[in-house]
Amino acid sequence: MRIAFFDTKSYDIEVFEPRLKQAKIKYKFYDTRLGEDSVVLAKGCDTVCVFVNDNVSAPIIDKLNELGVKNIACRCAGFNNVDYNHAHELGMHVVRVPAYSPYAVAEHAMALLLTLNRKTHKAYLRTRDFNFALKGLTGFDLHGKTVGVIGTGKIGRIFIDICKGFGMNVIAYDKFPIDGLDVTYKSLDEVYNEADIISFHCPLTKGTRHMFNLGSISKVKQGVVIVNTSRGALIDANALIQGLLEKKIGGACLDVYEEEAGYFYEDRSEDIIDDSTLSRLISMPNVIVTSHQAFLTKEALENIASTTIENVLTLDSNNDCINEVN
Ligand code: NAI
Repeated sequence: MRIAFFDTKSYDIEVFEPRLKQAKIKYKFYDTRLGEDSVVLAKGCDTVCVFVNDNVSAPIIDKLNELGVKNIACRCAGFNNVDYNHAHELGMHVVRVPAYSPYAVAEHAMALLLTLNRKTHKAYLRTRDFNFALKGLTGFDLHGKTVGVIGTGKIGRIFIDICKGFGMNVIAYDKFPIDGLDVTYKSLDEVYNEADIISFHCPLTKGTRHMFNLGSISKVKQGVVIVNTSRGALIDANALIQGLLEKKIGGACLDVYEEEAGYFYEDRSEDIIDDSTLSRLISMPNVIVTSHQAFLTKEALENIASTTIENVLTLDSNNDCINEVN
C-alpha cells in the first residue's frame, strides 16, 4: 500500500509518520492541496489522504482513477468537498473519520463565544502594553441566556452539555431530532426568534448551504451572537456582514468561512488580501475569525491518524470499512 497525503502540515506528519512506519505503509507527504495541478502527485499510490479544503470533485476523481488510485481517505469528519457518488460509480472507496474529538470542536465553539463576549483577546493585548483600562471590555452573563443549537449530533450534544454547565437555557433544531435527548427541540424559525446565541453544528449539504441568510437575519433577536464551527457555507457571509452593519447581529465567532480554501492554514500575512468579505469580517471589532482550528487538539490529531490508518488497512484487506461514506 502507498498513500499520498495532500495539504500536509507539520502536526499531521508528527502523528502519522510513526504510525505509518509501524504499519509498514509507504507514504508521501505533500504540503500542496489536491487539485488540478497537483493530482499527478498521486501517481503510483493506491490511496490519497485528503483534508477539508482539498479539491476532490468529479474531474479530480477521474484523474485519480486514471492514475490507479482506489481509495480516498478523508482525515476529517466532513466530506462536502468529495464527490463521493462519482467515486462510487468508478468503484473507488471513500472513507472518513466520523468522530475524532467532538470535545475539541465543542470546546472551541465555547472558547470563541467566551472570548468574543468577555473580550479576553483585547484585554490580553492591553495588559501586555500595561494598559489596565477596562473601557470597552464589558460583556454579558452567559448564565440565563438562551442558546440555540442547530444540529444535535456528536458535537452539538457536547456543546449543549457545556452550555448547560454555564446555566444557559438550551433550545435546539435538528432536521432529524434525537429521541430522548434532554433538550427542547424547536422549529428553525423558533430558534432564530428566541435565541440570544445561535451555534451551528449541522453538516454542509445542498440543503443547508446558506441556511443562515438575509431571511434568517430578519427573524433573529436584536444583538444575537452567531457561532459557526461547522462549515463556512452554512452562512451567507455577505448577509452576515449586512446584519452586523445594521447591528441586528451583535457579534460573530467564525472558525470556518465559505471561501476559506485560499487562506486558511496558510501564512498570508505578507499579502494583500483580495477577499473583501473576509477582510471586512476580520476588521470588525465584534467578529472573531479562527482558521478552521476547532479540531486542533493533541487527542483529536492522534485519533485522526489511528482511525485513518485503520480505515485504509481495512480497505487493503478487502473488508467492509465502517467508516465508508455512502
Ligand atoms: P454529526 O453527524 O454527529 O451531527 C450532525 C447533526 O446535524 C445530526 O444530528 C443531523 O441530524 C443534523 N442535521 C443534518 N441536516 C440538518 C439540517 N438540515 N438542519 C439541522 N440539522 C441537521 O456531526 P458532528 O460530528 O456533530 O459534526 C458536525 C459538523 O461539524 C460536521 O458536519 C463538520 O462540518 C463540522 N466539523 C468542524 C470541525 C472544525 O474543525 N471546525 C471539525 C469537525 C467537524
